Amino acid sequence: MTIQALKGFKDILPDEVALWQHIEATARNIFQRFGFNEIRVPILEKTELFARSIGEATDIVEKEMYSFSDRNGDSITMRPEGTAPVLRSFIEHGLQAKLPVQRLYTIGPMFRHERPQKGRLRQFHQMSVEVLGLNHPRLDAELIAMAWLILEELGLTTSLQINSLGCPACRPAYKDALVQFLAARTEHICEDCQRRSQSNPLRVLDCKSSHCQEQYVTAPAILDHLCPDCDEHFKQTRASLDLLAVPYTVNPFMVRGLDYYTRTTFELVTDALGAQSAVGAGGRYDGLVEQLGGAKSMPGIGFAMGMERLVLLLSQQNADACPDTETDLFVAALGEEAAVAAFPVVHLLRRKGLQVAMDLEGKSLKSQMKQADRAKARFVLILGEEELATGQAILRDMASKEQRQIPMVGPQEALCAVLIEAVAPDRNN
Ligand code: HAM
Repeated sequence: MTIQALKGFKDILPDEVALWQHIEATARNIFQRFGFNEIRVPILEKTELFARSIGEATDIVEKEMYSFSDRNGDSITMRPEGTAPVLRSFIEHGLQAKLPVQRLYTIGPMFRHERPQKGRLRQFHQMSVEVLGLNHPRLDAELIAMAWLILEELGLTTSLQINSLGCPACRPAYKDALVQFLAARTEHICEDCQRRSQSNPLRVLDCKSSHCQEQYVTAPAILDHLCPDCDEHFKQTRASLDLLAVPYTVNPFMVRGLDYYTRTTFELVTDALGAQSAVGAGGRYDGLVEQLGGAKSMPGIGFAMGMERLVLLLSQQNADACPDTETDLFVAALGEEAAVAAFPVVHLLRRKGLQVAMDLEGKSLKSQMKQADRAKARFVLILGEEELATGQAILRDMASKEQRQIPMVGPQEALCAVLIEAVAPDRNN
């Protein structure tokens, strides 16, 4: 019996990789323009890191983490998200003092034991950014606009929803109002929500049951309970988004699935991916650094984009974003003597930057021409016994079908220069 990948774990096959690389390159380029530095953090962390940051009473921590005891009996977890590990690293290495700007990004796999479906995997990939040390609302707008720009440059259309979750000063009054509202509906909501209405009432608004969601349409809205500072911060965030011409709608019931958020939260949503509507999401987490043992006054904000969802959207909305990769030249050597002559020339051409393919086994011309087609070769160089005897190989332009002779005598450097001139003159130096 063959062994298959685990449920919810997906291979990214060679014909999909161009799309992934295109998305990653687009994002990296934009991150750089906005002054971000890359950070790479481990996949395994102490379980406590996530329990303390994401929150004990969240779906992620309660139901979705890949946690286990390692050989020493320590409880460790495969990271379900990137914010907590990046902040752990930031605090552990005192990056506050070392970096010119506290703008970090990271790209990599995350793990959540969710029910797999289209756009929802157990191993998925995020591109995420975190900015530490600044609470100005213009930063919130700048980050949201950066996420918007990534989607724009990828040619993707989504919509943006924003909300404010307030701060420790204004949230208690809101929680009270919500608890009262929930108490009157206990028998109409699911068991999880009943439990959470005691332990972590805000979480109920994030419940995945549509039945519960129907009940919450009339729930009190956090925006009606913001303290003056949070209210002003949210107003200024919206005004700054207007200045950058980023369109948004305010969704007062968007609470996000992680406990660390304060003030601004946002989601980039689409209806093109079925139930999995968020392609990116994030928000402010002003108390999190302190909660993880770092500096008291170190506000933070960030977001993450789900790469699988971007790939799906891109193949639906902008399939031509990455043309297939082409091979500059396929060298068809016929017979041992020709292969021995061509082999070092192919290597030299590759050293000089050309994308070159060669059949190493010396198959028939017909078979080699098929291989050249499959490799999307723009040119084929044919070198057989006759060509070796005359010292003239044949160069075939696969688009126009035109053929010309290329001298195959003299030093390899000179041969390569002639070939590059014929195949990719812009790369001859
Ligand atoms: P999140 O909303 O849990 O936030 O995830 C961010 C994005 O990751 C989602 O919008 C979605 O595109 C993608 N995603 C999440 N779960 C899955 C899954 N099972 N399969 C495929 N894609 C998925 C966070 O993780 C926060 N750390 C974001 C953040 C950074 N907030 C501040 N800084």
